[in-house]
Amino acid sequence: MTIKPDAKGMYAASSEVVAGAHVDATEYARRYQASVADPQAFWANEAQRIDWIKPFTKVKDTNFNTPDVSIKWFEDGTLNISANCIDRHMITRAQQTAIIWEPDDPNAPAQHITYTQLLEQTSRLANVLKAQGVKRGDRVVLYLPMIPEAAYAMLACARIGAIHSIVFAGFSPDALANRINDSDAKILITADFAPRGGKKTALKDNADKALLHCSDRVKCLVVKHTGDQISWVDGRDVDLRQEMAAAKPYCPYVEMGAEDPLFILYTSGSTGKPKGVVHSSGGYLVYAALTHQMTFDYHDGDIYWCTADVGWVTGHSYIIYGPLANGATTVMFEGVPTYPDAGRFWAVCEKHKVNQFYTAPTAIRSLMGLGSEWVEKYDLSSLKLLGTVGEPINPEAWNWYNTHVGKGRCPIVDTFWQTETGGHLITPLPGAMPTKPGSATLPFFGVKPVVLDASTAVVQEATEAEGVLCIADSWPGQMRTLWGDHDRFMEAYFSQYKGYYFTGDGCRRDGDGYYWITGRVDDVINVSGHRMGTAEVESALVAHEKVAEAAVVGYPHDIKGQGIYAYVTLMKGVEPSDALRKELEAFVRNEIGPIAKPDLLQWAPGLPKTRSGKIMRRILRKIAENDFAALGDTSTLADPSVVDELIANRMNKG
Ligand code: WT7
Repeated sequence: MTIKPDAKGMYAASSEVVAGAHVDATEYARRYQASVADPQAFWANEAQRIDWIKPFTKVKDTNFNTPDVSIKWFEDGTLNISANCIDRHMITRAQQTAIIWEPDDPNAPAQHITYTQLLEQTSRLANVLKAQGVKRGDRVVLYLPMIPEAAYAMLACARIGAIHSIVFAGFSPDALANRINDSDAKILITADFAPRGGKKTALKDNADKALLHCSDRVKCLVVKHTGDQISWVDGRDVDLRQEMAAAKPYCPYVEMGAEDPLFILYTSGSTGKPKGVVHSSGGYLVYAALTHQMTFDYHDGDIYWCTADVGWVTGHSYIIYGPLANGATTVMFEGVPTYPDAGRFWAVCEKHKVNQFYTAPTAIRSLMGLGSEWVEKYDLSSLKLLGTVGEPINPEAWNWYNTHVGKGRCPIVDTFWQTETGGHLITPLPGAMPTKPGSATLPFFGVKPVVLDASTAVVQEATEAEGVLCIADSWPGQMRTLWGDHDRFMEAYFSQYKGYYFTGDGCRRDGDGYYWITGRVDDVINVSGHRMGTAEVESALVAHEKVAEAAVVGYPHDIKGQGIYAYVTLMKGVEPSDALRKELEAFVRNEIGPIAKPDLLQWAPGLPKTRSGKIMRRILRKIAENDFAALGDTSTLADPSVVDELIANRMNKG
């Protein structure tokens, strides 16, 4: 049955979807109301979905007011996350596939890893970590391809109470070294190479470079994945697969407190160096599991696929922890959407009979550009639901996804959330609310969004409103602090709008109470669904000896959502050239990683500054957006003529 929009442009789920869904409209209204009226009772009940070793007696103890921001959920309960994701399923699901691993190479065999095998491999890896001296509370950095060992390593850390910190395999040696040092990690787990799209990233080589800047005591556990030649440092490097084969196949799990950190994940902020977002154990798992089940309407036996990488929070919550806590079968894909051709996603959906498919708008846009014939070649009748995450989805991409992939019968869930939130904040539940293309619709249980006027901080009470998006009260999946810097945590999220968690996003609420995220209002940009701080790219550029000054802003990009636009002022006497442009691009790749490479780089003899020397980014943003009419008042600039110069030379491609 094909879903058609109603007169208001809303898409209601078919009666079959509604009938089979965990939650329908009435149930959503009832449970949402209950969750905000009495969060203690609501979450005490929801927390029973996971296994506790010692039951909690306290549910919620949270305070959003600076300088005492403190967030605790289920604080006196104890549990183990690995036991919740594996051991407790052994009674009923021992032979069920937990993870389907689909390699980059379409001709290589997929692996179907049962819960029994997951327990054994996780245990073996945990025993290797223990043998390396890893103790409860120690940090372990993972820098891995999308291979089963990434899942084993996450769960092995959780099993022994170590805190993992995953660094996306696309990050540079410098970025890796900074993250190892900031978290003072003892162990780095990496692989020889990361195959993606038929190419190989030299991960071990990057790790070697990174470790030159780290303490000598950091050990490097290496998965020999492709088997290609790598260099080896005796005494420091350990062959992980070899050690796992020799280790005991069972490792007991440790009893952890609900508030013990499960992982650190670095993400970009509006200023300075990346922030080490810290997530808890109990609250995080309750929230990841509940949102996974409700948002994707996951039912026993379904095959669920989230195309993200475990290097991002989406991979943590919705490839590993949420699905496995629910005893799901979760697909882990090593490759890219366009290798060996633009039909790969759909080939994998057909091959593994995927029921729920979750990806990013940027992937949809790029595949849409390559033509719908790639989709039509495959049997997608197993699909029941589609999801998107990471950035607003434009109506063209939504329609294409709906028509060609979902064949007009799969609800689309546009899930708004952040690294900091642990799980979905604003999202449709497929059987509960009709959707509107481009809107994340309504809040999840327990989430109280508020729209504030950006400058007056006045809460907008009317249903129709526009402003910045804050959340009025805590939910269990919320981050607890920034690693080693609670002051920065309070400053970044709780100081602008007193008593509220500030998302950093702008938003609009329409007459139906639906939320439309309008994008970041801070100096964070969203490139292909990856978050990037403009300040990080700027500091990478100015680290180059020929660069005097740099200013970086986002601009609309057809495929990536936003592209990176860099204005660069060179040192006196240095002449701009195409060769230098290439050199700077390579320099940024090297400093941060390929995802930070500027899409457009303009030579700027001068930057628009106030008389006190502050760069006026608003103006640079408008120039980058080709929106010269809206420059606003430039009279306060120290030298207004630089603006004309920048406009005259605006990069005209892209
Ligand atoms: C930022 C968070 C959460 C996993 C992926 C990104 C933007 C995220 C949506 C959406 C509009 C979205 C926001 C947010 N964003 N989802 N459905 N609609 N915008 O996590 O790297 O922490 O980035 O991504 O701007 O603040 P992240």
